[in-house]
Amino acid sequence: MSVALITAGSAGLGAAASRVFAKNGYRVIVNYASNEERANKLLEELPPLSTLPRDSGSEHFAVIKADLGSRDDINRLIKETVDRFGRLDVVFSNGGWTRFRGMESIDDNTHEEEWDRAFNMNVKSHLWLMQAAKKHLDETEGAFITTASIAGVVSSGSSLAYSATKAAQIHLMKGLAIMAAPKIRVNTVSPGLLLTEWGNRFSDEQKEGHLQKTKLKRYVTVEDVAEQVLTFAKSKSTTGVNVVMDSGFIL
Ligand SMILES: NC(=O)c1ccc[n+]([C@@H]2O[C@H](COP(=O)([O-])OP(=O)(O)OC[C@H]3O[C@@H](n4cnc5c(N)ncnc54)[C@H](OP(=O)(O)O)[C@@H]3O)[C@@H](O)[C@H]2O)c1
Repeated sequence: MSVALITAGSAGLGAAASRVFAKNGYRVIVNYASNEERANKLLEELPPLSTLPRDSGSEHFAVIKADLGSRDDINRLIKETVDRFGRLDVVFSNGGWTRFRGMESIDDNTHEEEWDRAFNMNVKSHLWLMQAAKKHLDETEGAFITTASIAGVVSSGSSLAYSATKAAQIHLMKGLAIMAAPKIRVNTVSPGLLLTEWGNRFSDEQKEGHLQKTKLKRYVTVEDVAEQVLTFAKSKSTTGVNVVMDSGFIL
């Protein structure tokens, strides 16, 4: 039975992916950072969604607390995942960080500690996670999927540090796809604005402005992005690809 690790998995896009993988017969480990109650609430939702045998349903799912900003925590997260479920087939490396700064003023975007934190979370954490997971994904010929953003494709989003580090993440993914081949496939999703806790930090005016710029006149849903993550997990023929899901925002 395939095992999927979903990082930053207890809310928003990660929670949607946890549900989609559960519905599609995967055993799922949900990573979170601080909100244990929310993670446990999601954990209760997963067994009824699962197509795996019910009698041992609760053993197919687990939550693990780990801070993706810490390399030690990332190594422990992979170790605990494999100790617990015995294998690893899919890593959805979904963590990210920003400090909302806007995209107008250079001076507002030059706080060094914010650049360091953004680079650590949006680039390095994905590399450390891949390094720790590689030998296990080699064994299962598995998939590693990251979450970037349209902010990494065109200069946009919540801050310059966020936009630049998400662009770096897309580039990182391509390098990892080459290095992890031929056994492991590495791909990225780049969503437009998602109305998660994160996305809802934009003002109503900003959200409406974003919507009006989408050609489809719709917000991207976490469910649509989660289905794309599942497609990447299943497709044996795709690697090094960044799929933009933005309702046509950047067209
Ligand atoms: N929302 C958007 O508009 C949008 C658009 C494009 C891309 N993205 C990207 O999508 C990804 C997910 O965003 P989202 O909107 O789904 O966020 P969200 O709804 O705010 O969910 C955040 C999740 O991340 C976890 N988390 C936060 N800090 C963490 C850390 N240091 N270590 C481990 N887990 C941590 C949270 O767990 P706790 O509550 O326990 O901390 C929670 O499960 C991010 O990479 C983001 O950059 C978002």
